[in-house]
Amino acid sequence: MSGAEGENKAKREKFLAEMQKVVEEAKNKTPEELKVSINGILYPSLLCSEPAFQAMEAFEAREDDILIVTYPKCGTNWSIEIIKQILTEVHNKEPTLDHAMFEFGKPEKYEHLKNQPSPRVLSSHLTYENTPKSFFEKKTKILLILRNPKDAAVSYYHFLNNNPVLPSNSSWDSFFGEFITGNVIYGSYFDFTRGWEKHDDGHMLVLTFEEMKVDLLAELKKICEFLGINLTDEQLKKIQEKSTFKSMKEKSDETHGKIGNVFFRKGEIGDWKSLFTEKQSKEVDAKFEEYLAGTKLGEKINYTTYCTF
Ligand code: A3P
Repeated sequence: MSGAEGENKAKREKFLAEMQKVVEEAKNKTPEELKVSINGILYPSLLCSEPAFQAMEAFEAREDDILIVTYPKCGTNWSIEIIKQILTEVHNKEPTLDHAMFEFGKPEKYEHLKNQPSPRVLSSHLTYENTPKSFFEKKTKILLILRNPKDAAVSYYHFLNNNPVLPSNSSWDSFFGEFITGNVIYGSYFDFTRGWEKHDDGHMLVLTFEEMKVDLLAELKKICEFLGINLTDEQLKKIQEKSTFKSMKEKSDETHGKIGNVFFRKGEIGDWKSLFTEKQSKEVDAKFEEYLAGTKLGEKINYTTYCTF
């Protein structure tokens, strides 16, 4: 193992040990205590705080940062892995990702980020409105990953019930009621997606979970082109293999610690049919029509293909 690899491994182990402490702390909390409202949106209380959000406002983005934006459960970990693999090929060493979830952590985190070498890989579930303006001023490259709302909802339900750091729900029906009104951690899927529609400065690449599932190689090429990176077919193939659901699940203990498997559940399109009633499906159809029909991001989601019973 090279010096840089050893340093990265030590950083990852430190990060996972900190996360494990948070998991232990969560055991003594009620579901209500695991949420905190900041500026009208719910966040995980053990990971986000008002003082940290204030410190975040002064964050200085760089033109060569890479910001991955997702609503929860739409492919965050998958896209972080892909960017990690791409940068590993370019620089011949793994980038540091211990600070990757941009809004998680203590206020000092934003000072710490100042000293991180470029390119910094950051990932966020923040709405367009709550994303620090510096990212837009610096024209940071943003990778927005969308997923159809029905699969996102089912994935979210299972994740909340299996991740001890997040508030669980007593039943699918109770979670669905909260999802549709936006009374969940990170707020409404529909507000989130409609909000990002406003960002249109030519520095954002929009991909979908579904497109990545159907033809990952094609999406990898789009990402590389967007980042101005040239990789050989062999390198792309290697990245494709390392970022399959199976490979990521197998490595999840190493990458995500003891609860790693919770992040890699099924990795499929269409699992929503296992839980949705027809009435619930129609409710989502109506929300989609109201918020996203006819928008660019709405088109990108390919709703009829992926959300019809
Ligand atoms: P499911 O719960 O439907 O399985 P996020 O990383 O934003 O939390 O998203 C988690 C979802 O992405 C989960 O969906 C997870 O299984 C899926 N996922 C993670 N890595 C994946 C991969 N390499 N290929 C396909 N799906 C993946």
